[in-house]
Amino acid sequence: MIAFDDVYFSYGDHHILKGVNFQIQESERVAILGGSGGGKTTILKLIVGLLKPDSGRILIDNDDITIKSEDELMEVRKKFSIVFQDGALFDSLNVKENVAFCLREYTKMSEQEIDEEVDELLRIVGVEHAKYYMPDELSGGMHRRVAIARSLAVTKPRMFLYDEATTGLDPVNAENICNLINELSKNGTGHIIVTHRVIDALRVADRFIFLKDGGIALDGDSSVLIRSNISDIVVFINELKYNLS
Ligand SMILES: Nc1ncnc2c1ncn2[C@@H]1O[C@H](COP(=O)(O)OP(=O)(O)OP(=O)(O)O)[C@@H](O)[C@H]1O
Ligand SMILES: [Mg+2]
Repeated sequence: MIAFDDVYFSYGDHHILKGVNFQIQESERVAILGGSGGGKTTILKLIVGLLKPDSGRILIDNDDITIKSEDELMEVRKKFSIVFQDGALFDSLNVKENVAFCLREYTKMSEQEIDEEVDELLRIVGVEHAKYYMPDELSGGMHRRVAIARSLAVTKPRMFLYDEATTGLDPVNAENICNLINELSKNGTGHIIVTHRVIDALRVADRFIFLKDGGIALDGDSSVLIRSNISDIVVFINELKYNLS
């Protein structure tokens, strides 16, 4: 379980989160929505301990991670598979080497074991044919799939965290990535997806958290989201209706 308990966070004197509270079970499928600069990526970084809050507690499985050492945080991070918004692949390495990178870094697997594991991960995300492609030969959707494969490489995570996994993709690729996200969570492993795109949030999540002015303006299921009269959310929903029409 992830719990934010009155979390405040600022970059210098720029206050981003002003008393955020939520609890997310690891089997949940949650979308964190909100305008650009609202603190969505910041929340993911706080969950895995890449940032520390100014005050408040962040509990992962009832353990306060804000007081953990860097070594202890490495253990916490293994619970999550995280695909960052700017999680670009290494340009000079082919797909196989990108996915193998963490396996080489963090495991003692043999070359053959690495090769088999890479094949399996690429198969899971559906780009096995691109094993020897360089990143600049990949489409946006393939690039995102390889980034997801790389994030899966080290551990079988207890929860997936995706930062803008579909942003910038054409509608078909965006839908394909949503299907992949749902596929990876089919066995009850939950996910948190951070996104601008309400349409994708509705595809992959059952719970919606909308950030506004450093706090949570809405936290509920799709009917709560769609019925909301919070002006920012209405804009998002109208955008969705426009996309569907
Ligand atoms: N390293 C940093 N140093 C200073 N300010 C930062 C840093 N990272 C982010 N910010 C600022 O903090 C605010 C929140 O950033 P964050 O990346 O969490 O927003 P976001 O909701 O993910 O936005 P987007 O939808 O554009 O990805 C933004 O105003 C951003 O400019
Ligand atoms: Mg972001």
